[in-house]
Amino acid sequence: MPAISASAPGKVILFGEHAVVYGRPAIAVPVGEVRAKAIITADPLSPPDSVRIQSPTTGIDAMLADLPVNHPLAAVVLNVKSALNVPHLPACKIRITSTIPVASGLGSSAAVSVAIIRALSTFLGISLMNEQVSQIAFEVEKLHHGTPSGIDNTVIAYNMPVYYTSGRPTERFAIGIPITLVIADSGISSPTAHTVADVNRAWKEDPQRFEAMFNNIGEIVRAARDAIEAGRIEELGALMNENHKILVQMGVSSPELEDLIAAARGAGALGAKLCGGGRGGNMIALAGQQDIARITRALISAGAAGTISTQIGQ
Ligand code: MEV
Repeated sequence: MPAISASAPGKVILFGEHAVVYGRPAIAVPVGEVRAKAIITADPLSPPDSVRIQSPTTGIDAMLADLPVNHPLAAVVLNVKSALNVPHLPACKIRITSTIPVASGLGSSAAVSVAIIRALSTFLGISLMNEQVSQIAFEVEKLHHGTPSGIDNTVIAYNMPVYYTSGRPTERFAIGIPITLVIADSGISSPTAHTVADVNRAWKEDPQRFEAMFNNIGEIVRAARDAIEAGRIEELGALMNENHKILVQMGVSSPELEDLIAAARGAGALGAKLCGGGRGGNMIALAGQQDIARITRALISAGAAGTISTQIGQ
């Protein structure tokens, strides 16, 4: 049997991170320039359920049975097994590679899960709907992040821009004119679980203030959807800046992110904000086509560890 492989994109949150955990809408888009990949090779000489998991990027090379059941990589495999009602897995090796930086707001954990779910279900001869893939990945996201909103697994499993509100059907929307983003990595690793927990602590201490900020973000997200659909790019940039201002008030920015955001704006970005959990990880800048190179140079000079430019809705 030839090896079976599947891959999944990274993602960025355009608007609404953190508030989405508290039931407000958010907008996220896939980023195909970075990907997680799972390759499955059958091992016909070993007994059923001999599943070897290799992830060179995270230094894992272990048999499934030797990993704790709540290890995220083991959990993906076990959740696929139980969701598909398969009593025994054929012996195989699952190798995971990824170009998505970890703990950086680009959806690395959800992308790894989605790639494994797709490769394993194909290996088992069962095809899954996007929603089923997303649901299985969501269960694993809970092990990574505690209280995920579900937006990362959704945008990555559907591989399309989404307008997402927890507990509601995922909405797709039209992109009026293509949107160009420059994404820059602060180089600082910042696990989403930590920032989500910090925001939760602060929300408990001052629920009124945080609920008001979440409401404001919800309004920005709704306005951003209208602006995207109508192709009002300059308004979109201003909304990004507004959203970022509230994220700063929430305490999830960092000096490094602020430097990158200032550099992007100074180089002509129409708007810029942190994306994902914050305190590190990545930021996004909305760019006119003619400004991509200048904004990229400015971001590198301001200390970006790496940049990606991507277009949405081309
Ligand atoms: C993570 O990409 C975005 C957060 O809003 C957390 C979540 O939605 O689960 C910070």
